[in-house]
Amino acid sequence: MGDPRDLDEVQSFYGDYPFPSRAWRQLQRLQWLPARLRPLLMKTDYQRRVIRAIRSHVTAPARILDAGCGTGELTISLARAFPEAHLLGIDFNARSLDRARSVADALGLERIQFEVQDLSQPLSIPGGFDLIVCIGVLHHMKAPEFALRQLVERLSEKGEIFIWLYGELGRSIQRAGLELLDLLVSDSGDVATKVDLAGRLGLIPLPRGRFLHRLGRRLRGLHPHWEGAAFVADTYAHPCVREYHVASVLELLDSADLELVAFLGQMRSRPEDLWSDPEVLRRMKELPREKMLRAIELAVRPNNYQLIARRRRS
Ligand SMILES: C[S@@+](CC[C@H](N)C(=O)[O-])C[C@H]1O[C@@H](n2cnc3c(N)ncnc32)[C@H](O)[C@@H]1O
Repeated sequence: MGDPRDLDEVQSFYGDYPFPSRAWRQLQRLQWLPARLRPLLMKTDYQRRVIRAIRSHVTAPARILDAGCGTGELTISLARAFPEAHLLGIDFNARSLDRARSVADALGLERIQFEVQDLSQPLSIPGGFDLIVCIGVLHHMKAPEFALRQLVERLSEKGEIFIWLYGELGRSIQRAGLELLDLLVSDSGDVATKVDLAGRLGLIPLPRGRFLHRLGRRLRGLHPHWEGAAFVADTYAHPCVREYHVASVLELLDSADLELVAFLGQMRSRPEDLWSDPEVLRRMKELPREKMLRAIELAVRPNNYQLIARRRRS
């Protein structure tokens, strides 16, 4: 979507809409409960599929860095998935980190630290991380290559990095929504109006069904976007969005001296993970690797790329 705008704009965007804020909102709703009972009612297995994908490749990392951790929900899910690990979550949005800290404290997760750091500036954190995750961050940056190189420098010798990036081929709905709201709202930075219009236009998916959604609005007197304004803003009103395809993903890895270990999630590195038809497999496997990956992405049309990479060895 167009040229990424100023970094400051992204920072103030997340200051207004700390992402994803789900667990934090849940915690606010449970304030009436004694503190020791709150964890019992909190749902903390967000992004289960992402965690499963990471666990399928990574066994027992001792130190994990969550770069661009936002309100820390994945950091917390990672802490649960790897109970021996010590984790550091960094983000340039202090408000997000305050929310992250309050949720981690409520859950008694002392193994997690959160620190304000700007990935577009030289980082002041130590290295030696066995696993670095960077989810939904680089595609919102003006210079993702610089950020990624800094992260790679902080990998332990055998460390691996898990990256999640927007995929161009599967994002036509979101792209259309972004462009539509840009057309309708003359001040492109007026995120609140865009979020409101996204609701009025019906752009927001209603996971609980239209009827219950409407009923919920009436009964609870809530704002129409009760699934979370942060999600709507992130999808339809973000000031800086970049979309990738396999070739640009590989270029990004290359720029940081990384080699691809595997694509996970929608996109895969091996056609046999997606098809069993012998004719399809034969033709795919005859292709050189990059063309095979291109063929896979054209067939799958992923809206994101999840991948594991490591320092180039040769
Ligand atoms: C879409 S959110 C993803 C949050 C989290 N990784 C998740 O998946 O729930 C993107 C996050 O990247 C952070 N971010 C963007 N640019 C950054 C930068 N230059 N330095 C540090 N954090 C940044 C934002 O503040 C925001 O919290």
